[in-house]
Amino acid sequence: MSDFRKLVFRIGFLFAIPWLLLIVVPVIRYQHVGPVAYDKDKDGMDGFYPPAPIHRQGQLVYAREGCVQCHTQMIRAANLGLDAWRKGWGQDQGERAADPVRSNTLRDYLGEPVAFLGIQRAGPDLANAGWRFADRNKLHLMLYAPRALTTWSTMPSFKHLYVVQKAQGQKSSKALDLPAKYAPAKGFEVVPSAEAEALVDYILSLKKDYPVPGLAAAKK
Ligand code: HEC
Repeated sequence: MSDFRKLVFRIGFLFAIPWLLLIVVPVIRYQHVGPVAYDKDKDGMDGFYPPAPIHRQGQLVYAREGCVQCHTQMIRAANLGLDAWRKGWGQDQGERAADPVRSNTLRDYLGEPVAFLGIQRAGPDLANAGWRFADRNKLHLMLYAPRALTTWSTMPSFKHLYVVQKAQGQKSSKALDLPAKYAPAKGFEVVPSAEAEALVDYILSLKKDYPVPGLAAAKK
């Protein structure tokens, strides 16, 4: 073999090994991952992990609107970086699960055609955002006029997912409760479109911190 061929062969080999280890092997392993049943005695609960499928319709809106440009949905394990999960994080979330939050596992994304891990954290991680918005309207407000909630917010408004309509008779029960600065003209109201509703359903379904079978009991 000539030197040139050897070189090409070696370069190919050097690329093939990481490709196999970082792409092919994980993809094959992921295809064999399925839900796991909880053990009633050990875990203290029935059913399967992960228990609930994500809201697919809303996930499509999330993808189209590019939320993934600024938000991650991945809390790294404690040994994987400075911003990885630490004990006690997430305890300030509202009405949350009894079990402490944790870093994410592969199964948290089961059933999602694309896992929106994200590329950078310009905004907060949304892996468990479902716990933080007990109030649906607050989430709509966040999407319609982020600065109505946080004056310094750099999140763009997603106004185009909402409809400004003439208020007829009584105000619609879905109408956004907007502060004067963002309110529409008198006699008009802002209501979410079906896509905005689906997006909100999706965010509310993001609770990627279900107890992991076998680990829940170990912590107690
Ligand atoms: C240009 C970057 C950017 C984009 C794009 C973006 N966001 Fe945000 N988002 C932020 C920032 C920054 C914050 C934090 C400031 C704030 O609370 O207003 C935030 C906050 C949030 C919060 C509140 C999180 C919390 O825990 O309080 C939610 C929910 C949210 N964004 C959802 C979305 C959704 C859904 C989309 C897509 C439709 C989106 N964001 C697109 C930057 C962005």
